[in-house]
Amino acid sequence: MDKKALALPRHFLIRETGQRVHNPYTPEKLATLGAAIRLNPGDRILDLCSGTGEMLCTWARDHGITGHGVDIAKDWIRLSGVRAAELDVADRVTFEHNDARGYVAAERVDVAACIGATWIGDGVTGTVRLLEQSLRPGGLMLIGEPFWRSEPPSQEAIEACHARTRDDFDTLPGLVRLFGELGYDLVEMVLADEDSWDRYAAAQWFTLRQWLDANPDDGLAPAVRQDLDREPLRHTTYRRNLLGWGVFALKAR
Ligand SMILES: C[S@@+](CC[C@H](N)C(=O)[O-])C[C@H]1O[C@@H](n2cnc3c(N)ncnc32)[C@H](O)[C@@H]1O
Repeated sequence: MDKKALALPRHFLIRETGQRVHNPYTPEKLATLGAAIRLNPGDRILDLCSGTGEMLCTWARDHGITGHGVDIAKDWIRLSGVRAAELDVADRVTFEHNDARGYVAAERVDVAACIGATWIGDGVTGTVRLLEQSLRPGGLMLIGEPFWRSEPPSQEAIEACHARTRDDFDTLPGLVRLFGELGYDLVEMVLADEDSWDRYAAAQWFTLRQWLDANPDDGLAPAVRQDLDREPLRHTTYRRNLLGWGVFALKAR
């Protein structure tokens, strides 16, 4: 695979600078999830689209798991290694710069996860089918996914939630129904709330403003300015109340 082709838009990377969790989840919610899914020391976790590695690194520290993360953002793979060293878990977690689409582990794992990136399987169904190829029988699957908390009132609302159409996301009962139809029991879930949305979204406004102050003449500055002009209103008008998000723990029936 041509690794030079594996890159994320610079604008996205600027916006998320400094965040350890790249979803509407706080470190506390990540810790709640780690405790809720009853990990055992030595459990092997595959994390597709691992971001800056916070889940694997903190769970290696707190639960003694071992893990392998895969992500397309080269700099975030580097930051994952920095975080692993910082938490003294570099002997338990590894990170690979790669495309997670179609990625299957060489050896089956105890936990297979994709937290907030189900586009790698063209949606929830395809991602479940991808992860199960890496999962040992009886293992646990983790899927992080948005859902509508109520019907979006307009196309503007849909786009403010970073969707193209209403059908890009399901409802919470719709997701639970889908997991069942795919042959899985939903055995745990930890959901985002308005405050954890703010920790994700509002933290980005500060980052954008700092970046703009430091880089006024950068070619991306007009686009970053547009983002900062519109995102606080979009978030408070729509996303904060309309869009749910959660991690769902699944076991095959
Ligand atoms: C919303 S973030 C979630 C990151 C991480 N799971 C977390 O919760 O902090 C989505 C991640 O998917 C990665 N990504 C997007 N497309 C990818 C692909 N095709 N293969 C691997 N990683 C990808 C991005 O680089 C980013 O780290």
